[in-house]
Amino acid sequence: MHKLEIKNLYVNIEDKEILKGVDLTINTGEIHALMGPNGNGKSTLLMSIMGHPKYEIISGDILIDGKSILELPVDERSKLGLFLAMQNPQVIPGVTNLEFLKYIVNAHKDKPQKLKEIYKDIKDQAEELKFDLHMLKRFVNDGFSGGEKKKNEILQLKMLNPIFSLIDEIDSGLDVDALEVVAQNLNSIDLSKSALVLVSHYDRFFKKVVPTHAHVIIDGRIVLSGGNELVERVNNEGYSWVKELNK
Ligand SMILES: Nc1ncnc2c1ncn2[C@@H]1O[C@H](COP(=O)(O)OP(=O)(O)OP(=O)(O)O)[C@@H](O)[C@H]1O
Ligand SMILES: [Mg+2]
Repeated sequence: MHKLEIKNLYVNIEDKEILKGVDLTINTGEIHALMGPNGNGKSTLLMSIMGHPKYEIISGDILIDGKSILELPVDERSKLGLFLAMQNPQVIPGVTNLEFLKYIVNAHKDKPQKLKEIYKDIKDQAEELKFDLHMLKRFVNDGFSGGEKKKNEILQLKMLNPIFSLIDEIDSGLDVDALEVVAQNLNSIDLSKSALVLVSHYDRFFKKVVPTHAHVIIDGRIVLSGGNELVERVNNEGYSWVKELNK
């Protein structure tokens, strides 16, 4: 079993206080839903866990299996099993998707593999996602549609097999069929070795990938946690009742 712990985390962006004491523990075997109104710190939390340098950790800690990862750069965190599917995936002109996938896979291996050695795996994973193979030869996310970018994030995830997958609004921009395919791919992940943290605003996504835990983040704090029933209540009633509880 593996454990990701966030302890009393305070994070600033450009001197603005965004996270104000977040506590969260995620064990393998769990699927955590993270909800909350726009601009309240969900992406900030995921970016901070992954180690984006723009997010300044003021205090608190982030630990994997009891060891702090705060001093580790992003690539080291990735090697420990963290993965972030970004809300706004980055475009990398000049680097093809195939080359990029080869680089990220090899960054996790002692002995680098040639593209032809991993191509079959890439092709199989892409086909499972119904991701057009022509997209593999294009520059990473360059000119991709919103939905294509989101699928490309999941393709990277599938190639890396992370322990802790942080997945930020993967459903936004996906058409109904693509949403179904992405949900199937997420549901096929072996949770005995991994855990998912899913940010989404929509109950229809959490009906397909059913969380074991749910949290509401408001003004940089997790103000309410529960099980799957919390997703439904937020869907039906919005956030005003949660804000009332915390007055
Ligand atoms: N460079 C910056 N300078 C100042 N504030 C910033 C900067 N970057 C982000 N923020 C602010 O940080 C807050 C938290 O943003 P974050 O992206 O974490 O929200 P979110 O909960 O993911 O929202 P959404 O549901 O819209 O994705 C927002 O108010 C945002 O405007
Ligand atoms: Mg966000």
